[in-house]
Amino acid sequence: MDDHFDSETLCVEGCTRCSELVESRGQIVDGTGPADADLLFVGEAPGANEDEQGEPFVGRSGGVLDDALREAGLDRADVRITNCVRCRPPENRDPTVEELANCRGYLESEITAVDPALVVTLGKVPAEHLLERSVAVTSEAGDIDSLAVGTGRWPVLVSVHPAATLYDPGQRETLAAALERAAEHTGSGGQSTFDAF
Ligand code: URA
Repeated sequence: MDDHFDSETLCVEGCTRCSELVESRGQIVDGTGPADADLLFVGEAPGANEDEQGEPFVGRSGGVLDDALREAGLDRADVRITNCVRCRPPENRDPTVEELANCRGYLESEITAVDPALVVTLGKVPAEHLLERSVAVTSEAGDIDSLAVGTGRWPVLVSVHPAATLYDPGQRETLAAALERAAEHTGSGGQSTFDAF
């Protein structure tokens, strides 16, 4: 069967669109978390640990993300986490424009199926990819823009990437504040308080 996004499992099947990534990946890394999560976090692409375990954000930056979620009163088990590109790029390089484009339909299908109250972009690549403009992630962290897919529209909160805090500990506050804002917008019971959408 041709490559496709399975709307039951929210998984991509049989994709060979990016020849270089087919070579570099061990497996396709789909999103994890509830299919009806209020919060959908979007990272860049899987790294070595994610490729090995088949789950997004399970390496060092995943540990940072887990801690930051906890600090914001959120539990990883309650949120959905996915990536712009589902296959590990070689040498952990950034995904190319073509790879991002090849995977975009899968991400849009996931956003549409999950229908989250808020999408949170982790880092520059997902912010610029989804918002289709240049984004200064540090200064815009915590700001909310919006994304249209088909006839749907979702609020998008910009955040720094968890890995940024490993290189620059000053970014911890920025990440924490962005996730706190995300938690506020979905409420502790998971009810969105963002009523512009
Ligand atoms: N960084 C990302 O952007 N995504 C992952 O899944 C892991 C690290």
